[in-house]
Amino acid sequence: MPTIREVRIEPWGKGDLSLLQRCLGDPAMMEHLGGPESTEKIAERQARYERPDSRQFKILDEGSGEGAGWVGYWEREWQGEQVYEIGWSVLPPFQGRGIAGSAALQAIGRARREHERRFLHAYPSIDNAPSNAICRKLGFEFRGPCDFEYPKGSLLRCHDWRLDLFPAGQVGQKWP
Ligand SMILES: CC(C)(COP(=O)(O)OP(=O)(O)OC[C@H]1O[C@@H](n2cnc3c(N)ncnc32)[C@H](O)[C@@H]1OP(=O)(O)O)[C@@H](O)C(=O)NCCC(=O)NCCS
Repeated sequence: MPTIREVRIEPWGKGDLSLLQRCLGDPAMMEHLGGPESTEKIAERQARYERPDSRQFKILDEGSGEGAGWVGYWEREWQGEQVYEIGWSVLPPFQGRGIAGSAALQAIGRARREHERRFLHAYPSIDNAPSNAICRKLGFEFRGPCDFEYPKGSLLRCHDWRLDLFPAGQVGQKWP
């Protein structure tokens, strides 16, 4: 895995629609996520992602300055608790170099610095070997399989992985 310096994350911007299209509009990229999203759905996401404080980031390759993908986190309710969920996507030419793991670590650092929620989850499809491997290598705890209706109308069998942002011993946080 590369050091954090090899990729950096920056808030999602107005000029990043084509990067989002390459992440979410490509059938190969969306194999484990219920298939490609429509142009309309991607444009609607772009409008949300470019808002300040959206917690959505582009991944930039430090070497070339090119957009390599997306990472983001958001709030959700999970088993009666408010948690963060994280997601990531890295374009084919950049895959297999530890970029998703490195970008996820940087996003996790931002989530931790917010001091809002204790737990951050990822729910990769059970067949998504690289995403499950990323959760394992970043120290997420495997919590078991679960089902999501995603996209609407189809059932996705996933793994629930959980990261404790503030392990025992670190006190003074303000999560509920
Ligand atoms: C999943 C995805 C983000 C991975 O990006 P990446 O930058 O190639 O990931 P990384 O290089 O950081 O890590 C991948 C890890 O999976 C491992 N891996 C890859 N294929 C694997 C396989 N078939 N079985 C087990 N492990 C595998 C790699 O060895 C690597 O671990 P390592 O660093 O310990 O060697 C990228 O493939 C992608 O965008 N896919 C499409 C979108 C997607 O599925 N997003 C995730 C939704 S949960």
